[in-house]
Amino acid sequence: MDVLHAISEMRGWSRTAGTGNRSLALVPTMGCLHAGHLALVRMARQSADHVVVSNFVNPLQFGPSEDYARYPRDLDRDNRLCREAGVDAVFVPDAGDMYPAGASVVVEETRVSSGLCGRMRPGHFRGVATVVAKLFNIVQPDLAVFGRKDAQQVRVIQRLVQDLDFPVRILVHPIVREPDGLAMSSRNVYLSPSERSRALCIRRALEAARVLFESGERAAGVLEPCVGEVLAVGRPDVVEYATVVDWDTLEPAGQIMRPCLLAVAVRFGRTRLIDNILLDPLNPAGIEPV
Ligand code: PAF
Repeated sequence: MDVLHAISEMRGWSRTAGTGNRSLALVPTMGCLHAGHLALVRMARQSADHVVVSNFVNPLQFGPSEDYARYPRDLDRDNRLCREAGVDAVFVPDAGDMYPAGASVVVEETRVSSGLCGRMRPGHFRGVATVVAKLFNIVQPDLAVFGRKDAQQVRVIQRLVQDLDFPVRILVHPIVREPDGLAMSSRNVYLSPSERSRALCIRRALEAARVLFESGERAAGVLEPCVGEVLAVGRPDVVEYATVVDWDTLEPAGQIMRPCLLAVAVRFGRTRLIDNILLDPLNPAGIEPV
């Protein structure tokens, strides 16, 4: 496995790897890899000849009071996990190379990024869209894999690819969960034991809504309070949102007549956790092919 730091090295590697029409998949990450990331790598391996993992804690997507400085980093462990997972190259750029002094262009999605996390974290999706556009330009992948835990991020990137004509196919992997149901996240390591066990209310709240949905309930005005009640049992410090939105536009949905997302963001102490389920009237049990 090659570990590449310079942008020029990464470009050269991709050029060579892509000869003879061999396909290249990118799995963008901010490191601190867990089983969720490794599932994305497996999906990438099944879909392309070569797999590149980028490992870059992107300063542009963190707000001034967020956890950029303390975001967990362990490059040696990440590289070992990538090697074991059969990754061909890891791209670990330097922040100074990605954002040299004087850089003044950003990429901003203006619709699906505005609600949910976009409202709570101003500038976050501008940072995500900018770094992903840069990674696509540098790595030149044929496809890229993202996890649906960050559902709004997925929609922003789908719009980015469509609106700016990136020739990159976006694959979306279902949420990977701990055995007790907590969605895997690099930020789970911040949780105290008490917060960790209270955080299970998130999964329970989403499941309670799914049961109602499966039994035929289609009104967001019924599902959202149900989610709120179950969340309250875990006493999160803040519930930022627990909302049903249309999957395509991410605008609030009244009645679920098309595929929708039930998305939750809560805080336990300083730790912000997000999770979601898809609510599709044509597939009420929400069974997703992996
Ligand atoms: O999901 C993440 O880890 C990040 O937002 C991403 C896509 C790697 C961009 O920095």
